[in-house]
Amino acid sequence: MASEAARKVLREFEKNGQSVDAALVTWSPETLRKILTEDLPEAQVIVVSNREPYIHNMKDDGVELVVPASGLVSALEPITRACSGTWIAYGGGTADRQMVDEDDRVQVPPGNPSYTLRRVWLTEEEYQGYYLGFANEGLWPLCHIAFTRPIFRASDWEAYEAVNRKFADTVVAEARNERPIVLVQDYHFALLPRMIRERLPEAIVITFWHIPWPNSEVFSICPWRERILDGLLGSSIIGFHTQFHANNFTESVDRFLESRIERADAAISYGGQTTLVHAYPISIEWPAELLATLPDVDASRTSLRERFGLKADVKLCVGVERLDYTKGILDRFQALEELFIRYPEWVGKLVLLQIAAPSRGTLPAYKQLHDECHRYAEELNQRYGSKGYKPVVMVAEHHSQEQVYEIYRAADICMVTSLHDGMNLVAKEFVAARDDEQGVLMLSTFAGASRELLEALIVNPYDPAMMSEALLQALTMTPEEQRQRMRPMREMVRDNNVYRWAGSMLMDAARLRKRSELDRVTTNAERSANANVDNVVSLVERRRMAAGLR
Ligand code: F6P
Repeated sequence: MASEAARKVLREFEKNGQSVDAALVTWSPETLRKILTEDLPEAQVIVVSNREPYIHNMKDDGVELVVPASGLVSALEPITRACSGTWIAYGGGTADRQMVDEDDRVQVPPGNPSYTLRRVWLTEEEYQGYYLGFANEGLWPLCHIAFTRPIFRASDWEAYEAVNRKFADTVVAEARNERPIVLVQDYHFALLPRMIRERLPEAIVITFWHIPWPNSEVFSICPWRERILDGLLGSSIIGFHTQFHANNFTESVDRFLESRIERADAAISYGGQTTLVHAYPISIEWPAELLATLPDVDASRTSLRERFGLKADVKLCVGVERLDYTKGILDRFQALEELFIRYPEWVGKLVLLQIAAPSRGTLPAYKQLHDECHRYAEELNQRYGSKGYKPVVMVAEHHSQEQVYEIYRAADICMVTSLHDGMNLVAKEFVAARDDEQGVLMLSTFAGASRELLEALIVNPYDPAMMSEALLQALTMTPEEQRQRMRPMREMVRDNNVYRWAGSMLMDAARLRKRSELDRVTTNAERSANANVDNVVSLVERRRMAAGLR
């Protein structure tokens, strides 16, 4: 499977006295850089996403830098750093304009710059229609099985198309030559791959869809379903977290577009072009640079428990996510209540700390969720709380990565109970944070991560009784069993880190580029062979004519 460059990297590890095992597991920025320089020489990597990796906001005491709560950002950031690429994203921070140069660029990460962030500005109308409207009221509920009805408005679609075009213009403007590698991220940009393909036919466009893809019956309700599929098939490669979602996509194409599908090769030929459709499970940075700078588990436990006034005999369960109806936060509260009903001895002995980063807060579905979560938390606290004890602590605020990792380290249990999720990187981050090999992960069977983190307690978030039993199992699990479960999960995340995710896509991209170069050579050779035949034929013609044979 490994490309020549990847094999070379592995051989070098051996030469340096490192075991092949270490080489195989250590997918690192160096591995990635080697693949790029050797297999894709001079390729410029351009990442496109809606969310930017660094947001500058205006505060009373100056400009504040925020790293957004986004799995996409935590995965792509180390990759872009490793490739010294260009990241194009919507500049949504209140001080974003102030921080860029005359070409709307800013060098990041701040303090130790290694790549360029190119900001794209959107009008209020564009933001409403493209981001809040079509992307988050249309595609988001369409792709997640969370029983929230998608809303499709023609005006949102128009804004979505216009913003995709604006990003295509920016990609073309940022491309240093005709053949960049463009990594298009997510459901905000379904039309962008085709728009790039039309303007830069030789670019390699790798599109990664970070959320689930529904079955073709569900997908069929989108009024612009053919346009979305056509747009995406401008990509050289389309990636999903799981094979299941890749299959759903292929089925949708089969149903709505005239195309040829080679299932054995996972390839779709459409409009004279071939697109590979593969599963690439996304992951996180390993080793996470940040972890080395943070307090260890003991120190994290002590400081967090002090901050929230937790007694020594109280277990700490945590949930960390954006406040989103796909994340199953209410279901988690219900599981806690069910536990208290079934096992009242746990009242007073367990606290659920729910970190809920504000997200898409102006949309009605999110406002409603916000209110319901607060109401339910309050109810539980009134019903089961007592002086100095609140079973639910809900903090609906943005937390930095440092703060989030400290919370993971302090937790006895981490609950990831998404109703539906492409992957869910919180599950992987929790595992990465636990270098003490302790802590229990409860993980929804409807999160892509449950296909990889098999030793987690896998739960159905729609079943409060089952979840409460899993909670009990987590609360009473011996340290030895915690270790037996945590160790293989850590190995899994270590071996399949984010560099491997990006590396696999880049290796496939390199194979495609080589194949297209071979095709070009073959086509040129065929052309000149045909031209020779034509010349011979016309010579014969001329002789025949001269001989009066016609
Ligand atoms: O991973 C799915 C995703 O929608 C990303 O595209 C996005 O960055 C993240 O969740 C957070 O959502 P938002 O950018 O809308 O706050």
